[in-house]
Amino acid sequence: MRSPIPDYLTQVLDTCAPDSGELAEYIPELAAVDPDRFALSLVTAEGDAYSVGDHQDAFTIQSISKPFVYGLALETLGFEAVLDHVGVEPSGEAFSEISLERNTGRPLNPMINAGALATHALVASTPPADSGVERILKLLSSLAGRELDIDEKVARSELDNGYRNLALANLLRSYDVFTGDPRAVVEGYVRQCAVRVTTADLGMMAATLASGGVQPHTGEQIFSRPVVRQVLSVMATCGMYDAAGDWLTTIGIPAKSGVSGGIIGILPGQLGIAVFSPRLDPHGTSARGVEVCERLSRDMNLHLM
Ligand code: DON
Repeated sequence: MRSPIPDYLTQVLDTCAPDSGELAEYIPELAAVDPDRFALSLVTAEGDAYSVGDHQDAFTIQSISKPFVYGLALETLGFEAVLDHVGVEPSGEAFSEISLERNTGRPLNPMINAGALATHALVASTPPADSGVERILKLLSSLAGRELDIDEKVARSELDNGYRNLALANLLRSYDVFTGDPRAVVEGYVRQCAVRVTTADLGMMAATLASGGVQPHTGEQIFSRPVVRQVLSVMATCGMYDAAGDWLTTIGIPAKSGVSGGIIGILPGQLGIAVFSPRLDPHGTSARGVEVCERLSRDMNLHLM
């Protein structure tokens, strides 16, 4: 007998099919992808996984890496040291805005680019030196439960056009938010963003947060419970940038989007959701992905409030 879950997910994919939105033009490699790719994966906190659509096609993780690298920074350096360098307040602004605290230059939160650059610099500056990206790749691989790699072509494409992130990194450096070389921080950060994943991988990564930091298939405790709570809280309030309030009121679960078209959502204790469709709304979030999440939230009553 066929399972009703894939049938339902296929129906969701078929009915959420708007062709509105634009590809991410500011990273030329992302503007060259097939805009019609579409995939959806659900993974329960126990590790039962369901995927439909182009779920074996890889794409770059982009900003969905941010909450996980934030978790790594918290685990490695402790809450106090991380909060000294990056705050937890929603910016209400677009992801690439200069959303810094006046006087200190501390980025408002780790989900916007300024905060993610600061978080990346923190992780990269902890010994052993020069292995920051490798440690991040190892973390993301252990969350996915398989060895991931970096799409160097996408990383290069972003770096060659990364004037905005270079400007942000230089600004952070001028405030001593980090002390290394701003260009090296941006180089590491764009490689972090270029880690290749599928929705099946992202579903597993989201399910690890849903299950209190334990990877459901390997049983590895990757994040402690306090770190998971911090990461999910920041995702709920800041993960969708200037659409965070709209997302939380309508869909009602902690989430993070990426400019290649991925979105993850986490229902604590229950479920990780991952969707992929490259056309973006004006917030830099997958237009179809938002529609899918709205539909899942409504159908399955996922809103946490
Ligand atoms: O730094 C950037 O601009 C990209 N590497 C990531 C931005 C991103 O994914 C925004 N999220 N929707």
